[in-house]
Amino acid sequence: KKRVIIDTDTAGDDTIAILTALHYFQVEGITITGGNVQFDQQVENALYTIEVAGKGGQVPVYKGYERPLMGLGEKEHRTVEDVHGKDGMGDSFFDKAIQRPAEGHAVDFLIETVHKYPGDIHLIAIAPLTNIAMAIKKDPTIVPKIPHLYIMGGTNNALGNITPSAEYNFWVDPEAAKIVLHSAIPITMVGWEMCTEYSIMDDTDHEAIAALATKGSKFFTDINQVVMKFNKSVHKLNGTTHPDTLLAAVAAKEEIMTKSNLYHVDIELTGELTRGYSLVDINNRLERKKNVRVCEGIDRDAFEAMLFDVLRSIQ
Ligand code: BDR
Ligand code: CA
Repeated sequence: KKRVIIDTDTAGDDTIAILTALHYFQVEGITITGGNVQFDQQVENALYTIEVAGKGGQVPVYKGYERPLMGLGEKEHRTVEDVHGKDGMGDSFFDKAIQRPAEGHAVDFLIETVHKYPGDIHLIAIAPLTNIAMAIKKDPTIVPKIPHLYIMGGTNNALGNITPSAEYNFWVDPEAAKIVLHSAIPITMVGWEMCTEYSIMDDTDHEAIAALATKGSKFFTDINQVVMKFNKSVHKLNGTTHPDTLLAAVAAKEEIMTKSNLYHVDIELTGELTRGYSLVDINNRLERKKNVRVCEGIDRDAFEAMLFDVLRSIQ
């Protein structure tokens, strides 16, 4: 199994992405970045998710940056309890896991682990890119040792989810996103538009998942309670979205991407209405370096089969 580190703001779909990664990869550790909900709650959610997978105590969880240090910081960062619930877990209010966070900073863990296994550590980024940007800034020599970075973030159709033009992970820390996208690490990006097109689970899908009747499927049902209502009322979507899970599935089996292309991608930092907007230069008008492989299509059946396999396997 490939070695990965998951960088996450653990809530909702992050948890299922973690379960997916634990299923398909050797997860060396989980690092937490400020994002979805209150920071310490995110740490607890990650620890609890590892326990759900039956791997309590086996995967270290490191605390990283609570705030988007690269950007406007506190002024800008907004948590989204309205999307994922007060606890980020669909208001399930699970008990605390036994495992406690590891000592040391997430960024140091990232740097040390990349040096320990040069060329072997794939990164799965499902949160604002603060930790990863800071790791690159602190020790740029990690860059050539990272074979691939998979990012859930941005959009390739200018339809955001936190503002009309920006996707949440890039919007929280656009400066960090800019540093990471231009770092020369090979990147695959799965944007929000892929998630609304290919990751939606409607009521029928939820019934089929509930029918699996495993610990994994019960967990999936619980954590999706709030996002189901939010998506229907705000995004006019007929079901739950699973951006981070889709990204983890792509990282595990790239062949579920039916289309992808290398493009120049950049981030808007100063736009009055568009801060955090990801520009994908599809027709190469800017003639700049093509820095990101952008996912443009997914085999939905294959993705769904992977999700079901993961949830079925957690008994
Ligand atoms: C991203 O924002 C978060 O709310 C999700 O966990 C996902 O990483 C989607 O825009
Ligand atoms: Ca996330």
